[in-house]
Amino acid sequence: MSEKRNILVLGTGGREHALVWKIAQSPLLGALYCAPGNGGTAALAETPTLDMADHEAVIAFCRDKAIDLVVIGPEAPLVAGLADDLSAAGIAAFGPGKIAAQLEGSKGYTKDMCAEADIPTAAYGRFDNAAEALAYLDTQSAPIVVKADGLAAGKGVIIAEDMQMARDAVADIFGGAFGDAGAELVVEEFMTGEEASFFVLCDGENALPLATAQDHKRVGDGDTGPNTGGMGAYSPASIMTPALIEETMQRIIEPTLATMAKRGAPYRGVLYAGLMLTPEGPKLVEYNARFGDPECQVLMMRLKSDIVPALQAAADGSVKGLVLDWHDDAAMTVVMAANGYPGAYENGTVIGGLDAVDAASMVFHAGTAQAEDGTITATGGRVLNVTARGKTVAQAQASAYAGVDAIDWPQGFCRRDIGYREIAREAGD
Ligand code: AMP
Ligand code: GLY
Repeated sequence: MSEKRNILVLGTGGREHALVWKIAQSPLLGALYCAPGNGGTAALAETPTLDMADHEAVIAFCRDKAIDLVVIGPEAPLVAGLADDLSAAGIAAFGPGKIAAQLEGSKGYTKDMCAEADIPTAAYGRFDNAAEALAYLDTQSAPIVVKADGLAAGKGVIIAEDMQMARDAVADIFGGAFGDAGAELVVEEFMTGEEASFFVLCDGENALPLATAQDHKRVGDGDTGPNTGGMGAYSPASIMTPALIEETMQRIIEPTLATMAKRGAPYRGVLYAGLMLTPEGPKLVEYNARFGDPECQVLMMRLKSDIVPALQAAADGSVKGLVLDWHDDAAMTVVMAANGYPGAYENGTVIGGLDAVDAASMVFHAGTAQAEDGTITATGGRVLNVTARGKTVAQAQASAYAGVDAIDWPQGFCRRDIGYREIAREAGD
C-alpha cells in the first residue's frame, strides 16, 4: 500500500478526534475529512457539513472527494447499514455491516449468538412481552439485570437489587421508556468480578488483538452516582493477563467471528468486548461494534504503528499477518464534562487554558466547537479528554491531571480517581 488515500472519518466525539489525530500522522494520507467533527478535529481535517443518517449524501460526498476509506466512528450509522451502502457503492468502509452490527444493536441477538456458539456469558431470557418476562422473573432471584434490547445510549441496563425493581424495569421498558429500543428485552443473571474492555481488529475471518483498557462509567469518584458514556480510561489493563487474553480469543472472539461468518454476516472493523472477569473466567457482558469512547483515546496514544494500513486491512480482509507496534507506556485519559452531566448542563461556556497544557499531553475534544476567532466553547456533556502517557498508570495519571489543572473551565468537572484500581495494583496494595 503506497498510494495516498483520502479518508473520511464520521462522528463528533473524542473518539473521532483521536482517530483523526492518529490518521493525520500517516504518510499514506492524502486528504482528511471529519464530519460533523468538533472543535478539535477542525485543526487537523476539513469538516464538511454532512448528515451521517443520509447515506446517499455520504456516498455523493465520497464520490465528489474521491474518498478511498470511510471510518465510521459511532454505532448508530453502523446499525443503520451505512457500511453496507458504502460497500455497495464501491467505497471501502471501516466498520461492520448492518447485520454484524446487531452484535451491538440488539442484546438479544448477541445472547442468542453466544448460546449458539457456546460463548461464556450470563444466563438469560429474551422476551417481547411483559407477561412472559414477568413469569421468567418469578423463577429467578435478585440481584438480576434487565436490559432494553436496542441502542439506548448506555441507559437501557437496569441492575435490579430486588425483584420489585426488576418487575418495574420490565414495565418501564415495555411502557416505552426507551422507545423502539425497548420493543424486546433481555433478563440476565448478575455477574460479579472486575470489568475490562478488550479491542480486536477483525476482517470477517481473522482477528488481531489490539489492546485492553478499563473505563470508568459512573459519574462520581469511587464509582458512585449515575452511569455515563465513560468518565476516563487507561490502557493497558493488567488484570487482562496474556493468559486471559488468549482464553478470551479462543472462547469468545474466535467463536463469534466463526458464527457471524456462518450466518453470512462476517464481522469487519473493531470489535469491542466488554468483559466480566469472573471467578470462572472471562465472560462477555456486551459487544460494541466500534471503538470505545474514551477508550479509543488511550489506544491511539499507545499505538506506535501507522493506523491507516490497519483500518484498510479490516476493510479489505487482510488482517492476517498484520503486525502493530505499541508503546510499552501506559496511557490515561480523563474526561472533563459540563457541570450537571449526565443530567442537564449548560452549553456555550468558554474553555480557556488549552494552550497551557504540556505538549506531551493531548487534549482530545468531544463536545466542543471552535468560533471564527478561535474561541473554544462547550457544546455537549462530555467535552474534553485530557490524555497522557507514562511509564506507569500512576505517572500517566499525574500528567493527565496536570493537564486538567492547566485548563480554565469553571463550568466543567472531572473525576479525580481515574485508574485507581490499577494504581493500587501498581503500588502492590
Ligand atoms: P452494558 O451496556 O450491557 O455494558 O451494561 C452496562 C453495565 O452494566 C456494564 O458495564 C456492567 O457494569 C453492568 N452489567 C451489565 N450486564 C451485567 C450482568 N449480567 N451482571 C453484572 N453487571 C452487568
Ligand atoms: N466507553 C464505553 C463505550 O464506548 O461504550
